[in-house]
Amino acid sequence: MTDETATLTIAGKSYEFEVYTGTENERAIDFQKLRSQTGYITMDQGYGNTGSCFSSITYVDGAKGILRYRGYPIEEIAEQATFVEVAYLILYGELPDPRQLANFRANLAEHAQLHTSLEHHFSGFPKDAPPMAILSAMLNLVSCFHPEVLDVHAEGPGFDRTVALLLSKVRAIAAFSYRMATGKPLMHPNPNLSYCSNFLHMMFSEPYREFIATPVVERALNLFLVLHADHEQNCSTSTVRVVGSSRANLFSSVSAGVCALWGPLHGGANAAVIRMLEEIKTSGKPISHYLEMAKDKNNDYRLMGFGHRVYKNFDPRSLILKKRVYAVLEELQQEDPLLEVALELEEKTLKDDYFVERNLYPNIDFYSGILLRAIGIPLNMYTVMFAIGRMPGWIANWRELLEHNQRISRPRQIYTGETTRPFVPLAQR
Ligand code: SDX
Repeated sequence: MTDETATLTIAGKSYEFEVYTGTENERAIDFQKLRSQTGYITMDQGYGNTGSCFSSITYVDGAKGILRYRGYPIEEIAEQATFVEVAYLILYGELPDPRQLANFRANLAEHAQLHTSLEHHFSGFPKDAPPMAILSAMLNLVSCFHPEVLDVHAEGPGFDRTVALLLSKVRAIAAFSYRMATGKPLMHPNPNLSYCSNFLHMMFSEPYREFIATPVVERALNLFLVLHADHEQNCSTSTVRVVGSSRANLFSSVSAGVCALWGPLHGGANAAVIRMLEEIKTSGKPISHYLEMAKDKNNDYRLMGFGHRVYKNFDPRSLILKKRVYAVLEELQQEDPLLEVALELEEKTLKDDYFVERNLYPNIDFYSGILLRAIGIPLNMYTVMFAIGRMPGWIANWRELLEHNQRISRPRQIYTGETTRPFVPLAQR
């Protein structure tokens, strides 16, 4: 709080409201008493101007293209930290020292394996079941085999164990869904491998040949997960908080987060970008055709991977990914024609008033898919990869909600339906 106040005048009467100021000088008007004092509510569809919580996890400055996890700039983290270190930082607020990191890694290794009874459930899904549907379902199912996680509180050894269990098992769920869909036998985790290498092993090893991730591929996956680890109150994280605000358990809360992330306006965009680039490449139509479609208000076509609710400058994650994509393709001696299409598309939007006036720049999803293609992740798993990366952020926000003892989320509405009218019995209708 500061001594600054905001005054609202309605029908000639003035009301004063306190102002909150954050550590980065962001300001918010405290409207918690607005309705009781004025009878009015705010209307902010999509919550673009509404703060839902106080948080110390991630800071984003959309105008300056700044992203920091617990105060550390994403550019420094991306180049120097492993995903396990970043997960620990986001969850516990500080970078782990060597002993803490070793304990965290041991915890993740201990909980990597799925309960054998869980494995049978994979065979119940149709071969073409969407991996995000499987992920959301299996996250709730895991809690059925570990009932102790249902009543975990936001601190202590129970919480640490539950976090490790969730962060670790999400890999096996993702990998097993891929193995089942491709008719391959399940590949169990190898506790001697790193977080990323173990996932790639579970995805791509064969009974007769273990998949050993090259350092290039492991670093690329590590970077992908680091860049996706948290992003303040985005759609899926807000969903986790809304579900958690009823004091629902962590597994059901993140399962709901997976469902929110699935949408093409959010995490589903990374796969949608690749489909868009492939369409542009194979259609024979010029890029200008797609730019015009994206501008045409008579259809809902959008350039996937462009625009952002918060970034009105470049998404710093997109800049990091674009740079790394080049390096990974070169090191793997691969060429991806979609990269050329992406670069041309970006170049054309930067010169087009429609996109410039609306600050529509590439977001994290624009280049991330090309990185996943380069390391062999199948297209229908892209959003699942986003979910694996975002898991620390979802857990940390769920925990923060409980630590702050936040009220249950329950927005208001403006009713626009029928006014009161007498019931009409069936015989008279
Ligand atoms: C993620 O919130 C987060 O932090 C999310 C995320 C995270 O890490 O969690 O960063 C990850 O979800 C990134 C976004 C991925 N989604 C996409 O790439 C889908 C394409 N982009 C959009 O649909 C859109 O830009 C959103 C959803 C990202 C943002 O939507 P907003 O903030 O509601 O913006 P809007 O729809 O009000 O658009 C403002 C204007 C409109 O035009 P006008 O009415 O002013 O004429 O910009 C236009 C929109 O039509 N516009 C686009 C566009 N995005 C916005 N026009 C064409 N192509 C686009 N991609």
